[in-house]
This record gives sequence, C-alpha cells and structure tokens, in this order.
Amino acid sequence: MGKPSVFVTRRWPNAVESRLSETYDTTFNRQDRALTPTELKEALIKYDAILPTVTDSLNAEVLDVASPKTRFLGNFGVGYSHICEESARALGLTVTNTPGVLSECTADLTIMLMLMVARRAGEGERELRSGKWSGWAPTHMVGTKVSGKRLGIIGFGRIGQEVARRAHHGFGMNVVVYNRSAISSKALAECGARQVDTLDELIPQCDFLSLHCPGGSSNRHLINAERLRLMNRDAYIINTARGEVIDEFALAEALEDGSIGGAALDVFEGEPIINASLLECGKTVLLPHLGSATLETRQAMGFRVIENLDDFFEGREPRDRVI
Ligand code: DGY
Repeated sequence: MGKPSVFVTRRWPNAVESRLSETYDTTFNRQDRALTPTELKEALIKYDAILPTVTDSLNAEVLDVASPKTRFLGNFGVGYSHICEESARALGLTVTNTPGVLSECTADLTIMLMLMVARRAGEGERELRSGKWSGWAPTHMVGTKVSGKRLGIIGFGRIGQEVARRAHHGFGMNVVVYNRSAISSKALAECGARQVDTLDELIPQCDFLSLHCPGGSSNRHLINAERLRLMNRDAYIINTARGEVIDEFALAEALEDGSIGGAALDVFEGEPIINASLLECGKTVLLPHLGSATLETRQAMGFRVIENLDDFFEGREPRDRVI
C-alpha cells in the first residue's frame, strides 16, 4: 500500500512540513490563503487526510459530499468550531485538535492585551509614531492600574487556567471564574481563584473580563448587549478565544456610549474583516489572531497534528480526538 495522501491547507513551519513529507504523500497549499468551499470539497474527494486551520470553514454545506475519500481531519489549532460536528460525524470522519501546546503563549498574549488596553499602549504607540507626542506630562495618557484588580475569566480550560495563574501570581489579581461545569478546589486554589455560578454574578464585579470558552453556535454572542450592560463603566473586556463569542455590534455601541472602559481583541467574528467602529475606536487594542503565534508553539502544534495523524494511520486511537 502506498503512503496516505495528506493535504495541508496552509503553510506550516519548515521543520514540521519536512517531517510530514517524510511519512506521507503530502500536498501543500503553496498559495497559503484560505480555501474556497469548492476547493475544500475537491480536497475531500481527493485526499485520505486533510489538515485544516481556523481559516477553513468546513461547514455543513462543504461537508455535504457524497463519497469523500477523506477519513481524517487533523486540525492545526485547539479551537475547531469551524468544523461542523454533526456533518463530520455523519461522514464518519475522525477529527483531532492540538490542545495544551498553545496554552502558555495564548495566556501570555492575553495578559499582554490586558496590560495594553489598561495602560493605553496601542494609543500611545499610535500617537508617538504619528509624530504627535509632545513630551511627558502628569496627565498625559493616564491609564488604569492592573495589579491587584479583579479579573473575571469565562471558561476555565487550559488557557483560562494559565491566564488565572499569571494574573494571580504575577499581578496579585483577584481571580473569579465562570465555567459551565464545576472546577476542582485544587485547580482553583492553584490560581488563587474562586468560582461563581452565573455570568450575571461574575460580570458586574470585574475590572477585567477575559474570554476563554470555545466558540461555535452554543457560545455565539454569549457576550451580548445585555451582558455588556452588566459591566462596570471602567471595566475592560479581552477576547483571545473566538470572535463569535462577542456580539461586535453591541460591543462597538458599548464602547461608543462609554458603558465600558475598553476592549482588547485578538479574534473577530468575520476574520479577517473587522467591524469599522472597532477599528475607529480609540479604546480598542486589536491584533490579527496572534494568540499562538510563536515559532515554538506553531512547531509544537504541527508536530502534535502529525502525532495524531500517525496514530490514525497506524491503527491507534488518536490522543486528541474530538470527533
Ligand atoms: C487555535 O488554536 O484555536 C487558534 O486560535 C488557531 O486556530
């Protein structure tokens, strides 16, 4: 039997691409752009495995393929809400993700965003680069202190826990968590955190609110106009999870009418298209989905996909199977 045919939808770090090509009959999308639904459908007919990313919308329509050749989807990333679970199951696909290896870097970036938005780093940099800075002044670009403040975390998986740990041990923050299921007292104690039962209880007490729950239809617009109204007027929201968790129109309104202090976002509902009001607003820090973007992490993600791929084609249960 020949090598399994594997299609990689985007460019990967060189070391991972080389390792993959040693074992598999690999085709890379050398154009390194998001694939169209038609291209994804063609790939499903042509290859034994596809290794997609968040930019490949494998929705019900795309997965509506009569007799796919593909049996395995190895997602390069932990979030897989771009893959329709129901359709993947109906096609009998095995789907894996890459948990754990990106938690530290995503948590680092979350803390960076929290500091940036509170300390007005984006605004300050824009001012300086545009030649408008006229020098130090006691009231110039005064922000908000982060140390010792209260951080609310929505979703206490690996990334949420890493954020809590950094916030508590590094910045002496008081961490409060909302999670759909109960968290062990040991896990909470490690991060100096306590759990509350509802979002309505969590949101009003926070100086910072950071999102770490999965995306997808069940969490779409979890943070809507009503919940934004529960936030303190000087509180900040940070999103390094998935864009669809926040209703961006409601967020833009809340920023405009001053009902919240600011927003720091790494993810957007219609990536890479960004809501114009968020772009224009001085109280936002916006990054192009950089949560896991370090060479170490992207390599680790790629090698983890390969581990799962090897498991699948060598007849073992892939360690990170999600579907
Ligand atoms: C992840 O791993 O989920 C990142 O957001 C990239 O998809």
